[in-house]
Order: sequence, then C-alpha cells, then structure tokens
Amino acid sequence: MNPKYRKTIIAGNWKMNMLVSDVKPFVEELKGYIPKTKTCETVLCVPAVNIAAMLKLGKEARIVCGAQDVSKYDKGAYTGEISASQLADAGVKYCIVGHSERREYHNESDMLVNAKTRALIEKGICPIICVGESLEQREMGLTMAHINYQVRAALAGVDVTMLRHCVIAYEPIWAIGTGKTATSDQAEEVCREIRLIIRDMYGARAARSISILYGGSMNAKNAAELLAQPDVDGGLIGGASLKPQDFATIISATGADNE
Ligand code: PGA
Repeated sequence: MNPKYRKTIIAGNWKMNMLVSDVKPFVEELKGYIPKTKTCETVLCVPAVNIAAMLKLGKEARIVCGAQDVSKYDKGAYTGEISASQLADAGVKYCIVGHSERREYHNESDMLVNAKTRALIEKGICPIICVGESLEQREMGLTMAHINYQVRAALAGVDVTMLRHCVIAYEPIWAIGTGKTATSDQAEEVCREIRLIIRDMYGARAARSISILYGGSMNAKNAAELLAQPDVDGGLIGGASLKPQDFATIISATGADNE
C-alpha cells in the first residue's frame, strides 16, 4: 500500500449474511477501531435490506456503506433489481461488481460487468471491480492473460476522469471462502500487473492513484503481510468481515491512525 499516492480501503463483503438487528451490535463493537485519517477508508458492502441501518448507524462510526450488486438499467419494470440511482439516492458510496460468485451463479458476463460499472460511475458511486483467475487457469499459466482481459473488458468506455472513481479488487477464485489465501508474493504480482495494465490504458498518473485491493481468505492473521505489499492498497474481505474483532484487526493492520 502506498498512502502517499492513493487511498487504503478495507472493504467488508457481508454477502448474504447478517440481519438488520445485527448491524447495531456490529457497529458498536467496531467503531473504536475505525481510522480517523481520510487516507484510509472502512467500507461495508452489506445486503440491500441492511443498507438503511448501516447508513444510519455507521455514519458516526465513519463506516462507509457499500452495496453488493446493481442493475445495469436505470429504472423500470425489472422486478427485484436495484438501480445505481436508487443506491446513490440512499447514500451508498461503493458497490461491488463482477464478484466471482455473481459471474458464476448468475452467469454475469464481462459485458454486463462493464455496463454495471458505467451505470455506477454515472451516478457517482465507486465500483469495486472484481477480477480473478480460477485454479485451473492459474495452473495452466493463464493468470495474467485472464486478468488482462477482465480488467480491459470491465473498463471499456471508461475514460480517465471516470477511472478516478473506480477501485479494482484482485480476487483469485481459488482463494475465496476456501481458507486458501494467495501468498503475499502472488497477491503483489497480480496487483502490480493490474497497475501496469492501468498504466498502459490510462497513463502513469492514473496507475499511481488507483486503489487496488486483494480479496480471498484475508483474515486477522495474514492481513498485515498482504497489506504490506507495495501494490496492495487494501482488502475485500468476506468471512472475516462478519466478526467485528477480526475485521478490526485487519483495519489495524493498515497502520492507519484511529486516535
Ligand atoms: P472471503 O471472501 O474473504 O470469505 O474469502 C472474499 C470475497 O468474496 O470478497
């Protein structure tokens, strides 16, 4: 992480966990650990039904509320969908797109990920764009080619001013929810590659400023080593974001000041 040039972001992904009644005790337990500095942001991407509670209760604790998905459409007859306008109107600042669980279980294509990315940017919400290879792709030596393709596809039609409002998360599929974390060298290698792709697409300045996160079984024990890597600017954390003490330890591993 390099706080001189870019923001550190610790983002929790609650996935389909936690009830509205869980939000208050969670925030209470976590709030003393949230950094005061603006260079480190704590985000919780919560299920849609928890957004209102997290916005209300998290505000004072400096927890920024994120969503986990968005429609590519702006409004209309799309039962079950939530638009970027609605998320923005509610006060949501970040939204995950292209998570491997949505790519796999909901057949989300790179084109759809791109449409959602652009819908979010247009409404002032920062997309957290997830990319990552499968174990098979890694073993076949296809990691970098796949990452290259996914990053470019997600950002098609996104210009350099729009890019300022994007975050990329490298999440190797084989590491998600498996307890099998990428080594810090593996995480750094791919996050660095993503920065090089951004440099190629948008220039050195944009590459230096974009926050690139690592996700995949990041936990209280391995966070410090992963976050110490120069191109890893934070984490996208699933399982360990459900336990306030573990999440607090990960936040503290950034070294950001909460005095
Ligand atoms: P995990 O999930 O930390 O439970 O591996 C990360 C993610 O899916 O974003």
